[in-house]
Amino acid sequence: MAEIKTIAVMGGGQMGSGIAQLAAVHGFDAWLLDTDYNALSRATKSISYSIQRLVSKGQLSQAVSKDALGRLRYTLNLEELSSADVVIEAIVESEEVKKKLFLELDKIAKSSAILASNTSSISITRLASATSRPKQVIGMHFMNPPPIMKLVEIVRGADTSDETFNATKALAERFGKTVICSRDYAGFVVNRILMPMINEAFFTLYTGVATKEDIDVGMKLGTNHPMGPLELADFIGLDVCLSIMKVLHAGLGDNKYAPCPLLVQYVDAGRLGRKRGIGVYDYQPMPNAVKP
Ligand code: NAI
Repeated sequence: MAEIKTIAVMGGGQMGSGIAQLAAVHGFDAWLLDTDYNALSRATKSISYSIQRLVSKGQLSQAVSKDALGRLRYTLNLEELSSADVVIEAIVESEEVKKKLFLELDKIAKSSAILASNTSSISITRLASATSRPKQVIGMHFMNPPPIMKLVEIVRGADTSDETFNATKALAERFGKTVICSRDYAGFVVNRILMPMINEAFFTLYTGVATKEDIDVGMKLGTNHPMGPLELADFIGLDVCLSIMKVLHAGLGDNKYAPCPLLVQYVDAGRLGRKRGIGVYDYQPMPNAVKP
């Protein structure tokens, strides 16, 4: 496997921007690609802000931060990923959209490049089947936010080679992450366990058992979780949670994975969580709020 120097990240949303930041901070040349100019513009700001925060907390030196910002490039042009040794896909959680992208990536990326997906739940084997290089396709599932969270879950598709697995594991470790491995079943390890809990929190709210605040405080103080499940769902994105529940339901074939109607309704209403300013909770500033 050739040395990894350049990493391209597809999708400049909350995950993609964090992964590109991580790559640049660890000395790789990093491209961040999106189809939406506004997403790239938001990503530029959020990466600068995140890097500055790490510097102010003493977790990153000024020199590394300057170097990292200089290694990051943002583009709408898919052709730019032809220089990448590894492409990490972090676009919307839709098998159809991801497969279409993998077909394109396969045409543009170097023949030696690894094509990794940050999917939360979708079959790596099926994404790999859209390419002519299934041996080089792998799941590289970062947690949110990627610069902070310590875990990367690596998922081998049916045809992923040992070489691809070893190179991806080494890359995650170079990012300072601990790796766990999962077989390619819906939701892998983390979301197979986490998402039914979040879905159950929605059912608890939907059936009027408790208020959203009591559900979250109950799980925070009762089980020592840093965030309550509804708060966490808003942080992840309710659209992402719903997509994962649908994959679990279809892939594992049990009604216990059916998405809660309240989760479906919130997504239908555009209440997608923090990224939209409203989800289970309202994050929008009060119109007449007096600034301190
Ligand atoms: P997001 O909605 O914040 O960002 C998705 C980005 O992909 C958007 O900027 C969109 O413009 C872009 N995009 C859509 N189609 C594209 C295409 N064809 N080419 C290039 N860019 C495209 O989503 P988020 O939360 O960053 O999730 C991305 C992926 O990461 C999903 O597969 C999700 O399941 C996974 N993930 C999400 C986590 C979370 O906590 N939100 C945690 C771990 C994984």
